[in-house]
Amino acid sequence: MNLSGKKILIAISGGIAAYKIHFLIRDFIKKGAEVQAIMTPDAENFVTKLSISTLSKKPVYSDFYSDNGTWNSHVEMALWADVMIIAPCTAGTLSKMVHGMCDNLVIATYMSAKCPVFIAPAMDLDMYAHPSTKRNLELAESFGHIIIPAENGELASGLVGQGRMSEPETIAKTIEDFFNSTTKKTLEGKTVLITAGPTYEAIDPVRFIGNHSSGKMGFSLAEEASERGAKVILISGPTSQKLQNKNIELHKVTSAKEMLHKVFEFYDMADIGIASAAVADYAPKEVATEKIKKNDDNLTIELVKNPDILKTMGDKKTHQFLVGFALETQNEEENAKGKLEKKNLDMIVLNSLRDEGAGFKNDTNKIKIFTQTEKKEFELKSKDDVAKDILDFVESQLLK
Ligand code: PMT
Repeated sequence: MNLSGKKILIAISGGIAAYKIHFLIRDFIKKGAEVQAIMTPDAENFVTKLSISTLSKKPVYSDFYSDNGTWNSHVEMALWADVMIIAPCTAGTLSKMVHGMCDNLVIATYMSAKCPVFIAPAMDLDMYAHPSTKRNLELAESFGHIIIPAENGELASGLVGQGRMSEPETIAKTIEDFFNSTTKKTLEGKTVLITAGPTYEAIDPVRFIGNHSSGKMGFSLAEEASERGAKVILISGPTSQKLQNKNIELHKVTSAKEMLHKVFEFYDMADIGIASAAVADYAPKEVATEKIKKNDDNLTIELVKNPDILKTMGDKKTHQFLVGFALETQNEEENAKGKLEKKNLDMIVLNSLRDEGAGFKNDTNKIKIFTQTEKKEFELKSKDDVAKDILDFVESQLLK
């Protein structure tokens, strides 16, 4: 799931399972979340602030004051968070939480939090089975907190039983399911067809004509549309991007012609079409069957025009809301508006290679959106957030 824009507060208490938190933080960061970690003083015996802050990309606090005398505001951190996770949550920390024994930064932050709280207990099996732990977990549940139960297995003591902290994947899934349940399914019932990435046009079995598109923009759009409840069909040229959301239907293609054919397998069923692919405008007229040898000083390759996939979509448009992209280096607005008209689009997203951080490969983009009557300009943002802006705009147009 794309967690971009989500703020996750992780409180680590002193148990051996603390080492697993590295994997959880890395996963959240990879998915675009912001992570703030705090620790009980005892947790520092198990993991270092350095390793946690390297992964979370933020300072990690275990006391109310830092060495330089600045106050680490538990209130600010608590109110900042969309969710708070206490993992591993030891018997001691759990007891302090439910009885309001506020003697460290973690408990003070927890008691200031207004967001949903998730607890991943970790302790030895007899401690986990103890009536006081059971009562404390029940109390935590009665406060509205969500318990991610400890798992069965081998424990640090060598004993086998229930007490191991849930695996990071299970904790991550619980948090993602929670965010998913709070995301409005504004595209439920819609089918979104997206083209992404470059196309490669073969010269011979070894070489091709291509471009710098990484596929990031199109994949971000696919993830966001899927999170909003749409059925997503993603048709992508060669890319190393990986999908988080298993519901997205990915079709891999190589050349513009293959992309065209794939698009028209699904075009009729699409409600929204978004063409973010950087399609090669020309392809070699002949593809050599063997590797071309470098015998001469000059080599001329005759190129022929590729089909314009988006224009064909525009020409055959029936009920679809059609979004094109324009990648420009000069006369940007004029060219983008020209493409809006010529390709019979409902909306076009302009990105200019003259804007730093925009266009190919970067994790960021800076866009302007045009319709026949409107223009909207956006700041430089992550491609995940640009995808949100684009889909918000599409939705606003569909409501008209
Ligand atoms: O993949 P990334 O590294 O994240 O980069 C994202 C991006 C820069 C590729 C993306 O934001 C973008 O701008 N995509 C469109 C690139 C492009 O080819 O623009 P264009 O102005 O040449 O084409 C205009 C539109 O026609 C585009 O929607 C394009 O998909 C479409 N087209 C173009 C030629 C063609 N033969 N068939 C098409 O469908």
